[in-house]
Amino acid sequence: MGEVILTMKDIDKSFPGVHALDHVNFEVKRGEVHALMGENGAGKSTLMKVLTGIYQKDSGTITYKGKETEFHNTREAQDAGVVIVHQELNMIGDLTVAQNIFIGREPKKGIRVDDKKMIEDSKKLFQDLNIEIDPREKMSNLTVGKQQMCEIAKAISHKAEVIIFDEPSAALTEKEIADLFEIIKDLRKKGLGIVYISHRMDEIKVITDRVTVMRDGGYVGTLITAESSKEDIINMMVGRVIYEDPKEHSMVAPDAPVVLKVEHLNAGKMVQDVSFELHKGEILGFSGLMGAGRTETARALFGADPKQSGTISIMDKSGQLREVTINSPQDAVKYGIGYLSEDRRRYGVVVQKSVTENTTLATMEEFCNGLFINKSKEKKVTEKYVKELATKTPTTDQLVVNLSGGNQQKVVIAKWLTRDSEILIFDEPTRGIDVGAKNEIYKLMSKLAAEGKSIIMISSEMTEILRMSDRIIIMCEGKVTGNIDISEATQERIMDKATRNIE
Ligand SMILES: Nc1ncnc2c1ncn2[C@@H]1O[C@H](COP(=O)(O)OP(=O)(O)OP(=O)(O)O)[C@@H](O)[C@H]1O
Ligand SMILES: [Mg+2]
Repeated sequence: MGEVILTMKDIDKSFPGVHALDHVNFEVKRGEVHALMGENGAGKSTLMKVLTGIYQKDSGTITYKGKETEFHNTREAQDAGVVIVHQELNMIGDLTVAQNIFIGREPKKGIRVDDKKMIEDSKKLFQDLNIEIDPREKMSNLTVGKQQMCEIAKAISHKAEVIIFDEPSAALTEKEIADLFEIIKDLRKKGLGIVYISHRMDEIKVITDRVTVMRDGGYVGTLITAESSKEDIINMMVGRVIYEDPKEHSMVAPDAPVVLKVEHLNAGKMVQDVSFELHKGEILGFSGLMGAGRTETARALFGADPKQSGTISIMDKSGQLREVTINSPQDAVKYGIGYLSEDRRRYGVVVQKSVTENTTLATMEEFCNGLFINKSKEKKVTEKYVKELATKTPTTDQLVVNLSGGNQQKVVIAKWLTRDSEILIFDEPTRGIDVGAKNEIYKLMSKLAAEGKSIIMISSEMTEILRMSDRIIIMCEGKVTGNIDISEATQERIMDKATRNIE
């Protein structure tokens, strides 16, 4: 680690009804990766937004390269070499990858944008980072993981001296995270100061040099990572110890009926001859690398994407498995299927609406029109879930855009829980959720399963798969490559099947 490049001292910031930052201190040295940790809503993103000029602080001082500094907007911060990779994706879907990366600073040829140079420069950038993305591709065609990689490439393309990664790994697979870590190590070697925000404790141990913990907008303390245990850090964050034991046996009754049977499903390139069964009260984990076809399978099943062939059967009220036709999400909802999407920006929440509206009303605009919910229950239901999921919001009337990332995710979960679906598909349900709240969501999922709901849980986190699933389906390149009971599952067996096609 080198000299201090950035110091934030006594930073205070309030929003209406929320004291988001309460005299926070933070420091970054050249050549260090400094983790910023804390529960959902602790103030991590806000502190970094104050630093990069997105928000203006109420008081406190920022010293950058020895000079007291205040950035009034992101542009000023970028020009000075302080860049942020945001928690929420900020790319424009209709533009190409290259256009997104160079937006607002396009290379020019005369008065025209020099497309050729823009594409060449993007190519070079990706090459340096060892990322395989075509700069001419439309952004909306990329997976969430790839879009995240573009955000990272864009940040690096500014001549940065301090880079802030606000939960970069939340959308990435183990393999992509490994690539990202190589990039970060390289930046560290070059003497950049790096801020790394993540809820994944394992990553913190691997990649960071120091950890600063925040709680409820306040500064708790700073530790040297190598000298601290996982438990130390969690304890500092939430004030108690949390255990993460894997599940040993399936909790599903041996005679539990099949509630969903998918046979020979084909949908596009990523879903090839997929067959599986889901039992009543089961949590069926879907494991695999990003791009394995798990989300695509869920979307085809839910009617969000077209299917080419295959059959879907669902248990009807009389307990009979019956073949159904699902051509749209409306059909799926009618048959009692709920889908919590991995991409909350696109399908999860309407950020300009309140917590209540998102939980109960208009929630399915993207999927269904005119779904009716008893209005008088709205507030009560919302308050119930705010409490149950410990969603941090001043009131249920708060606009979702003002909630922290993890708390937005909780709103999405609440929304599907109010739907009373018999079959719930959770796609990366705890992405970006802090350890304490994660625990709450796990408890809630277990409770739902115990009450007889059946759950498909797509997850890229191995600990989550091993802790929650009764059975695990593994996919690789659009095909099912494994189906393992939890009692026989190990990380190695899953990884082995996730990386090859033939059993
Ligand atoms: N623009 C805003 N208006 C009102 N409140 C806000 C705004 N931005 C953030 N907040 C509130 O400030 C607090 C801190 O939020 P912040 O996004 O910094 O949390 P975080 O630590 O990044 O959490 P997460 O881990 O969930 O991303 C939260 O209570 C949040 O709701
Ligand atoms: Mg945040």
